[in-house]
Amino acid sequence: MSVAADAADAAAAHAERVLARLRAEIAANGPLDFERFMELALHAPGLGYYSAGAAKFGPGGDFVTASELGDVYARCIAHAIAPALRVTAGEMLEIGAGSGAFATDVLAELERQGALPTRYRILETSADLRQRQAAQLHERVPGLASRVSWLDAPPHEPWHGVLFANEVIDALPVRRFVMQGDGRVDAEAVDVDGSGALFRRDVPADAALAQAAIELETQSGPWPRPYRSEWNALLPAWIATVTASLARGLVLLVDYGHPRHEYYAPARRDGTLRGFHRHRVVADPLAAPGLMDLTASVDFSAVAQAGLDAGLVLGGYASQAALLLANGLPQILAAADPSDARALARLAAQVKTLTLPGEMGERFAAITFLRGLDATLSPLAGIDQRHRLQVPLPP
Ligand SMILES: C[S@@+](CC[C@H](N)C(=O)[O-])C[C@H]1O[C@@H](n2cnc3c(N)ncnc32)[C@H](O)[C@@H]1O
Repeated sequence: MSVAADAADAAAAHAERVLARLRAEIAANGPLDFERFMELALHAPGLGYYSAGAAKFGPGGDFVTASELGDVYARCIAHAIAPALRVTAGEMLEIGAGSGAFATDVLAELERQGALPTRYRILETSADLRQRQAAQLHERVPGLASRVSWLDAPPHEPWHGVLFANEVIDALPVRRFVMQGDGRVDAEAVDVDGSGALFRRDVPADAALAQAAIELETQSGPWPRPYRSEWNALLPAWIATVTASLARGLVLLVDYGHPRHEYYAPARRDGTLRGFHRHRVVADPLAAPGLMDLTASVDFSAVAQAGLDAGLVLGGYASQAALLLANGLPQILAAADPSDARALARLAAQVKTLTLPGEMGERFAAITFLRGLDATLSPLAGIDQRHRLQVPLPP
């Protein structure tokens, strides 16, 4: 049997195990709220997309993140955070480190800049990815790998330095709602039919989801009916928990998403939820649970509000292109060797993908928070667009 056929068989067997887990939970408890379905599909131990052994990252996987393109992104982030690391003489906490490419490249650049963190901790839910991260660090930056350690939960003891996460909030499970023609709010749930296949079913929303949908429409509507979208109910607690022990430092979060009024615009009447499999967008989120990534864009107004509620100072908001152009990209371009045509071509390709508006440049955005640090230490200080988030800012 060929390697490809073996892989297809293994994928089919894995899909069947994930389906069996989902069917068992539906049999026991009834239809699953979409949030619970997404949690199981992505994170169920040994079964979920992130917790099991799928390739996920890079050309052979399902999607390419900014740090998988090459080292330009991580080098720019190193420029962005080096001042805060120097001032705090602090450490770094990365959440959701994927293949470990970012940690590897950012540590190498911080060493070049003489701004290494005292230690580098990674909060990672996936045991499989932890192993890959450790392997990549030992292979590519053996002299720095001993600074890195892994956490199961956010640190309890107070720490200072920089907290960073790229494309992690979009992997938090979301709830889905439908504003129906008669004004009713339904919740999207996942059920199983007589043949064992999963299907989406609208059920009456509970009070929390109904109220959230009504408030979102008040802020961003009126919406056409029916209007289906997502609400990240877990976000406020997540932001509060991961930042709680940061006593003094900078938080930099990068993800794809929008300010609230753009996210919940009347025209976006089926939300932003989608799957990624082998670099293709999959519209049906139930198509291959456990075998494909599931992701929803980030409501950056909600992130800003969650940070403010957690007692952080909102430092700034800007597109990814602006973040990179204001933090190191010009210096990286200026330092490129003009006689090395191949390296220049690779660099140009990365810069295009990272900054063009139709690629990652405007689809991705960055938000910063500060605690106990001067506002000038936000890498978005000169390019700030916080007003777009429409959250109340302290005077
Ligand atoms: C889309 S990947 C992004 C990886 C990496 N940051 C990058 O940009 O290449 C999401 C990462 O977050 C991790 N993750 C998802 N939910 C998490 C959570 N609640 N806490 C910590 N890590 C999480 C996943 O295992 C994975 O490493």
